[in-house]
Amino acid sequence: MKLVTITKTKLTTKPISISFNHLSEKDIDTVFLIESQSSKHPWTKNQLLESINNPVNLGYALIYKSEIIGFLLAMPSIESVDILNIVINSNYQRKGFGRALIERLIEALLKRGVSEVLLEVRVSNVSAIEFYLSLGFKEISVRKNYYTKNSNELLVKEDGIIMRLEISTFINT
Ligand SMILES: CC(C)(COP(=O)(O)OP(=O)(O)OC[C@H]1O[C@@H](n2cnc3c(N)ncnc32)[C@H](O)[C@@H]1OP(=O)(O)O)[C@@H](O)C(=O)NCCC(=O)NCCS
Repeated sequence: MKLVTITKTKLTTKPISISFNHLSEKDIDTVFLIESQSSKHPWTKNQLLESINNPVNLGYALIYKSEIIGFLLAMPSIESVDILNIVINSNYQRKGFGRALIERLIEALLKRGVSEVLLEVRVSNVSAIEFYLSLGFKEISVRKNYYTKNSNELLVKEDGIIMRLEISTFINT
């Protein structure tokens, strides 16, 4: 397992020692537990496994005190990358760990010459939207009735918001 220690991060305002490793199949149980406990609309174990095992995808585990407490999965194309999922264990949210994962991704993207990050988020996921806005993501469009959610036993559709981050603006913040 290769651990990459981040020495320069905006976590400096919250001095915490973290590291990252590349997600692999052996992390699936921990990742699935975090996903199940911390996400309102969790992926299945199979969806996570498929994404982790897809050789095209980028996957990072965030390690704090020798434990995985969060992860990020992203799918790169030539000029952009789509964030597929990012989750921080609910006991560790609002401490700068989510931002640190995005910074780890951007560090990798800079080496690939990728200029923008895209993602899609449920309109009801207000905390995630606030998180992305705080990092400089902007809403670029709405995908009507893209998601299905369970509400009082009824399957209801909800919109997805597509957001975009220009990497150069993130670096300059
Ligand atoms: C979204 C998520 C990854 C953010 O991770 P995090 O580690 O809690 O976020 P950070 O601590 O790095 O937050 C950075 C900034 O984002 C904003 N932010 C994060 N969570 C927020 C919330 N719940 N409400 C309002 N703003 C929020 C704040 O500006 C925060 O800075 P501050 O704490 O100094 O005010 C985390 O809430 C999570 O795992 N949610 C469940 C899974 C999910 O919905 N993932 C997104 C799928 S699209």
